[in-house]
Amino acid sequence: MKAIAVTPKTPNSARVIEVPEPKVGDVPNGRGVRVKVLRVGLDGTDREINDGLYGAAPPGFDYLVLGHESFGVVEEVGPAVHEFAPGDHVVALVRHPGHSLYDTIGRPDLTTEATYHEHGINLLHGFLTESYVDEPEYLVKVPQGLKEVGVLLEPASVAEKGINQAYEIQRRLKVWQPKCAAVLGAGPLGLLATLFLRLRRLEVVTFARQEAPYLNSELVEALGATYVSTNQRSLSQVAMEGPPFDLIFEATGYSPLVFEAMGVLAKNGVLVLSSVTGGKRMVEVPADALNLSFVLGNKVMVGTVNAAREDFEAGVRDLSMAEAEYPGWLRRLLTRKVEGLGTCPKEIKLLEFGPGNIKTFVELAPLQ
Ligand code: BGC
Ligand code: ZN
Repeated sequence: MKAIAVTPKTPNSARVIEVPEPKVGDVPNGRGVRVKVLRVGLDGTDREINDGLYGAAPPGFDYLVLGHESFGVVEEVGPAVHEFAPGDHVVALVRHPGHSLYDTIGRPDLTTEATYHEHGINLLHGFLTESYVDEPEYLVKVPQGLKEVGVLLEPASVAEKGINQAYEIQRRLKVWQPKCAAVLGAGPLGLLATLFLRLRRLEVVTFARQEAPYLNSELVEALGATYVSTNQRSLSQVAMEGPPFDLIFEATGYSPLVFEAMGVLAKNGVLVLSSVTGGKRMVEVPADALNLSFVLGNKVMVGTVNAAREDFEAGVRDLSMAEAEYPGWLRRLLTRKVEGLGTCPKEIKLLEFGPGNIKTFVELAPLQ
């Protein structure tokens, strides 16, 4: 069968290759689940891997099958699988456990080990292929009614983890009642974070560079949130004029903004950092003032990566809520469909996230 693979650390190597078909029996003890891949979303991580900046092949391979944002349908299960049946729609977890304490309690997203195993990214093949076999432990069921937008569950799980971690941390305050949030960035992650914060009834201001109106700003406003172009007003200006930001979710990929966010966070507030920044950027910051405001304001800043099963499950609930409360909104994120694997390498090379294109996804087989 066909797959899209790269030679890790080699720029522009995405190509179609032939790989062996996986069998349910590849997983021991009758626990295999064979999934036919229907859709795979693409993001900046895929582009960075194809740029040769990131990614590693599984042991014994000189290629890495790409794709970590999957959506598929179960075709066959081993005799000891009771969690899934053929016809179930599923999304696969991205990270598999290592050996730290966190890995052993089902939280590989919190691993303290130096190496981590991520499908389509690091040491595990991805899902840009016709089918894959995994264990039920690494699959999440998606209800039939979400199949049109199920490919958004993986990025949704990343936004959910950041927000869930923030709420978990804020239990330190006993009576935290956040009113206003800022989301930095209006790409898929920023938009999904805006959605989930709106579903929690927060006032949300979402910041991005591009001037309104365009698709992303319209999507922000369709949620009853406010869109601000940082070309017109900076985060600090908006913070001075309005209520303080109890929660800030950073998802721009531009690390200097973190320090501006630190400066405007409300007392007792929480700042969530989610951008994977591979560069070497240096900036000068008002260190004393930022430190003082964190100390005197009991503020918290937390980094977040990947997601646990519970964040995928929270994603399923919130995507369902979104379909009920903002019908059609999620579908508008799926801006570019690539048909089949044939033209996919070109799309990965040209992958652009400019205004107007929010999520490119590959359709490997029609939704069923
Ligand atoms: C993926 C995460 C992953 C991260 C770092 C992101 O694109 O969505 O699941 O943990 O990259 O590799
Ligand atoms: Zn991703």
